[in-house]
Amino acid sequence: MGTRKAFRASVAHCLDDPFSAGSNVLEYIEDALLVLNDGVVEALGDAQTLLDDERFSDLAVTDYRQYLIVPGFIDTHLHYPQTDIIASHGKQLLEWLEKYTFPAEKQFGDESHALESAAFFIKELLRNGTTSGMIFASVHPQSVDALFTVAEQFNVRVGTGKVMMDRNCPEELQDTAVQGYEDSQRLIDRWHGTGRLSYAVTPRFAPTSTDEQLRLAGKLYADNAGVYVQSHVAENKAEVAWVAELFPWSKSYLDVYDHYGLLGERAIYAHCIHLGDADLIRMRDTGTVAAFCPTSNLFLGSGLFDLHSARAAGVRTGMATDVGGGTSFSMLRTADEAYKVAQMSGNPVSPTQLFYEMTLGGARALSMQQYVGNFEVGKEADFSVMDLAATALLERRVGVANTFEEKLFAFIVLGDDRCTRATYLMGQQAFAADS
Ligand code: GUN
Ligand code: ZN
Repeated sequence: MGTRKAFRASVAHCLDDPFSAGSNVLEYIEDALLVLNDGVVEALGDAQTLLDDERFSDLAVTDYRQYLIVPGFIDTHLHYPQTDIIASHGKQLLEWLEKYTFPAEKQFGDESHALESAAFFIKELLRNGTTSGMIFASVHPQSVDALFTVAEQFNVRVGTGKVMMDRNCPEELQDTAVQGYEDSQRLIDRWHGTGRLSYAVTPRFAPTSTDEQLRLAGKLYADNAGVYVQSHVAENKAEVAWVAELFPWSKSYLDVYDHYGLLGERAIYAHCIHLGDADLIRMRDTGTVAAFCPTSNLFLGSGLFDLHSARAAGVRTGMATDVGGGTSFSMLRTADEAYKVAQMSGNPVSPTQLFYEMTLGGARALSMQQYVGNFEVGKEADFSVMDLAATALLERRVGVANTFEEKLFAFIVLGDDRCTRATYLMGQQAFAADS
């Protein structure tokens, strides 16, 4: 028998995909007991019923009865070296990279800067209730060591990888095809599969890699079972035109990655805004994931991702902050903007669909659903304790809501990091608002 503990609170989570299975996949238990054994879920149910059960009679119960426990949020795409350039004014993607991003990323060759930034970054995720993510580091292998070192200390379930880029960026930030390959392989051997950590092969985007580098990235993905690929595709119209010039043989931007074996079930592509129907079919057929980054897409003026069309085409999707092109670490702020972007396409997303994308949907997008995403028995207990009275306005709005879905929507639209009372990783407190 392992270490048992329990938490008493309202609990909400998704049991399945509301896009395909309908809104009754949302389970809400107003007075729930969440019972953990050695950091994984042993039981979830009505508090009084479980407390009356002799199996659970001598549990240490933490009383969070005025709060809502939700699964840890899952951010399917963001950049830790861009923490300090969040909210940089006035440019679209290609100029924004030159003016703000590359100068910031140059600093990550300095190990102490990388470590300090990584620690701030992981704490900021936890403050926002995010417990898993697929994260870009910088081109420097030591930036990956720094993030994995901090992630291991906190015990977050994350993926990251060394950016591969061997052209069309400042010389200081360039690797070579062979160096990028060898450094990536070394990092995979050092880190992939240790604890809750995964490696992601990380070609920045097609314009900053030669054909040879993309080929070697595909080889890393093929040769190392279980590693991910993360990159960007079809974010900005000028970027799309540039890719067509650089790869004149390609049928489309996505086709460049396809050609080098970089699509698949563990491949996560941020943005996916300017794609054609054939690209969506190819993404569906290969199981490739589109990471929807609404705050970034609005902030950089990139365009509107069409979540409904992607889902209708059978494409796997996740939601993502894309810090620092995105403007918030909060998946609540991100889901709020996702709702507005969907409104622009005339297809509103439901509160349950938004909540799914932040939790179980993100876990499925990152192929982590056997570990995290909801409170099914046996899953790792990553969760946050949320205060739906954290601001006067949210408290007032939630106070007049008639249904839980109405409360959930107000929480998404009006909530932010002020709502997070505490965040737990495998049942251990990793963040507390008042400590
Ligand atoms: N495309 C290539 N690199 C980046 C990046 O760092 N951020 C965003 N939003 N798009 C990119
Ligand atoms: Zn990005």
